[in-house]
Amino acid sequence: MSGKTILVTGGSRSGKSRHALKLTKNINASKIFLATAEPLDDEMAERIQKHQEERGKEWTTIEEPLDPASVLKNKGNQPGFIILDCVTLWLSNMIMKNIARQTILERVHEFISVCKNCTSHIIVITNELGSGIVPLEPSARAFRDIAGETNQILASEFDEVISMVSGIPVTIKTSEKPRDTDQTKDKNPEHEFSPGKKQGLYEAIYKRRDVRHFIPKPVDPEKLGRVLDAAHHAGSVGYMQPWNFLVITDPTVKNKIALNFKTANEEAAQKFSGDQQKLYNSLKLEGIQDAAVNICVTCDRTRFGPNVLGRNTVFETDLFSTCCAVQNLWLAARAEGLAVGWVSILSNDQLKEDLDIPDHIQPVAYLCVGHTESFYPKPMLETAGWAQRLPVEKLIYYNKWQGPSTDFKVHFPDPTKND
Ligand SMILES: Cc1cc2nc3c(=O)[nH]c(=O)nc-3n(C[C@H](O)[C@H](O)[C@H](O)COP(=O)(O)O)c2cc1C
Repeated sequence: MSGKTILVTGGSRSGKSRHALKLTKNINASKIFLATAEPLDDEMAERIQKHQEERGKEWTTIEEPLDPASVLKNKGNQPGFIILDCVTLWLSNMIMKNIARQTILERVHEFISVCKNCTSHIIVITNELGSGIVPLEPSARAFRDIAGETNQILASEFDEVISMVSGIPVTIKTSEKPRDTDQTKDKNPEHEFSPGKKQGLYEAIYKRRDVRHFIPKPVDPEKLGRVLDAAHHAGSVGYMQPWNFLVITDPTVKNKIALNFKTANEEAAQKFSGDQQKLYNSLKLEGIQDAAVNICVTCDRTRFGPNVLGRNTVFETDLFSTCCAVQNLWLAARAEGLAVGWVSILSNDQLKEDLDIPDHIQPVAYLCVGHTESFYPKPMLETAGWAQRLPVEKLIYYNKWQGPSTDFKVHFPDPTKND
């Protein structure tokens, strides 16, 4: 099967090469960088060297100023990527050799037909030269014209065309041909969610917030039912499903829990001093009475008896399972537009007494659930200056605790970029 042909066009310094490399990022496949630039002076040689280093070892660089088609014929018959950088220099190299305009265009057509027969995906970088004023020099005009003509031919023949505008890729032509040869991708479409479904799931994850500010609006019982059923579909050790959900709406019960919080919070504040204590005391850490519903999620540590599959060595796995249910609840609630705030600043003994919870049942989470004016854009503790999100890449080790990283690295896309 032939690969995809992609043209990346744009002005100088518009981010074309960076984007071309990005299209191949995190894909395990052969990668060839076909450079048409020649190191004619020290500055150029230095630039080429710098770019090679930036690309990294996974790239094989081949320099071919005049006949890129010959390289494609030799190297393009394997799955992977070939980036040609760039057409404009290739054209100028041919002009410098006094090759006639007609011959140049024939070579462009030949190059395109070779690209179309390659197994590799071919990414070709070119420059938009025509946006400025008409050059005074006839030779400059001729160059601009042949560059524009070549770009038009490439754009009409290639599968996909991306125009770079100030570092932002704008797709101006697409095709249905699959681009990636990533062996890590699942080829069975039933295994992977559609882009819309994936986006929805990630949105729930990234936009979930712990909320302490609620508005007095009742919770739709159907929504609550869906959220609790989502919680009930969490994984659990030995399929133990050790949870119960105590749904609390009675203000007198809520008042008791609020009192419990007040006492526990005053004690907790004593653990801090000075400015930190001041900051702690300024934080709102619960919404017990304001939230329409409170839910106490408990764990029955005796469910399924003393021998639970998978729980022989780590006895707390029943508690872990209950936390999984809480996370499901939290995410489903976010998707339903319901706010959730977890309150752990409570005496569990007092909670058990107030809610008539038997001894063998452990409260795991006390949740305030309801509607909010707005979900905080960031964790409230981050906005308040209490803590920051740690960089995830610093938390991932490879093969052993703090072990050296291997070739396999997780890639973290920039969520602000749309490609
Ligand atoms: C086990 C657990 C207990 C928590 N207890 C409280 C609490 O007592 N009061 C509170 O205001 N937030 C509590 N939180 C919420 C955290 O402060 C919050 O998750 C964290 O700051 C990150 O913010 P985010 O959930 O909006 O991403 C708790 C969260 C978890 C997971």
